[in-house]
Amino acid sequence: MVVQVVVLLYWLHVMCALVLADVWKAQLEPNMDAVVSSCVVLPCTFKYPGQHQPSARMRGIWHKENKKTEFIYHEDSLKILDDFKSRTKLVGNMDKLNCSLEIDAVKSHDNGPFCFRVELERDDKDKFSFVDNCVSVKLIGKNEDILKPKLHYKQSVEEGVPAVYKCYVSHTCPSHHPTLTWNHTEKNVLVSYKYMTHGTWEVESILTITPKKEDDHSAITCTVRYHGGLEASTTVSIFVKEQVTLNHILIPSITGLGVSVLFAGMCFFVVKRYKKRIQELQSRNDNGMWSRLSRMSRRFRSGRNSGEQVRRDQRKNKVCNMPGKEPFSKPRIPSPKSQPKSYSGHDYDDEYNKSADLNIYGNV
Ligand SMILES: *[C@@H]1O[C@H](CO)[C@@H](O)[C@H](O)[C@H]1NC(C)=O
Repeated sequence: MVVQVVVLLYWLHVMCALVLADVWKAQLEPNMDAVVSSCVVLPCTFKYPGQHQPSARMRGIWHKENKKTEFIYHEDSLKILDDFKSRTKLVGNMDKLNCSLEIDAVKSHDNGPFCFRVELERDDKDKFSFVDNCVSVKLIGKNEDILKPKLHYKQSVEEGVPAVYKCYVSHTCPSHHPTLTWNHTEKNVLVSYKYMTHGTWEVESILTITPKKEDDHSAITCTVRYHGGLEASTTVSIFVKEQVTLNHILIPSITGLGVSVLFAGMCFFVVKRYKKRIQELQSRNDNGMWSRLSRMSRRFRSGRNSGEQVRRDQRKNKVCNMPGKEPFSKPRIPSPKSQPKSYSGHDYDDEYNKSADLNIYGNV
């Protein structure tokens, strides 16, 4: 049962296809734009009933609507209206049922509507005019805004970073594509052509420039030149942002670093000299058995202290170890992992040294 239904549906489908194919039918774009003095290709495909004919036995004709004898295209050029003589060409391949017509050097009154007609050289001399599918042409004249190319771009670009400008126009003259040019001298331009829809094509030109500082506020112009000579341009301004280069970061940071290293060095030497002088003064004025004794006891107590630390402690003891001030001069255990702490240790030393000054001069 199911199989029979499927078979029936299949045959219905085949018969429908045959019936549909067996008619006079043409497919055209009812509305086309055309640039005056350029060309326009009116897309057209058609079907006819019965046996397939070689193109030699077929005659494709274009005529004005409702005037089947006013030919705008005919095999016999003598039959073509004077106004269209040598301006029309059947660019479609009739063998492939393609009846596309090119009208060149379009004039401002070429608005149509234009219709296709086919005559078959068969026994019954079939002829058919597809007057239900004619083409109206809208003409675009000089100075019309629609002629201008469109520009896609980023207004604000970065210095030294390649920027892309895309200029494009749509048109209906694929046998002579319009040309797009830039006011820029760089040769980095990519051109492409693509078919859009409804007989319309697009030409696109992509310009890649690497902006320099001098290009700031400069103009980028894309000019289109249509076949036949009409021209139109679009201009945009670009704004070039200065690039933040490595130098912009490196120079200030190196300068800053240099200054701080210099400053630190100066501090170091000042402190060193200052301490040396205190030591000198201290050794001259050293009279106490006290400090010598406490120095020895400290060595006993902090065996693990580094020599440096011990020496520092010694210095401290020399100046600070007054009778009765024992708890004040406990040895500090160095913290090796934190440099800043040892810095504060220096401050601490300085504190001591200041008080040492007082002591020293008190001793004098
Ligand atoms: C018909 O011919 C034109 C011109 O050669 C071509 O651009 C178009 O693609 C053809 N159409 C089809 C459906 O093949």
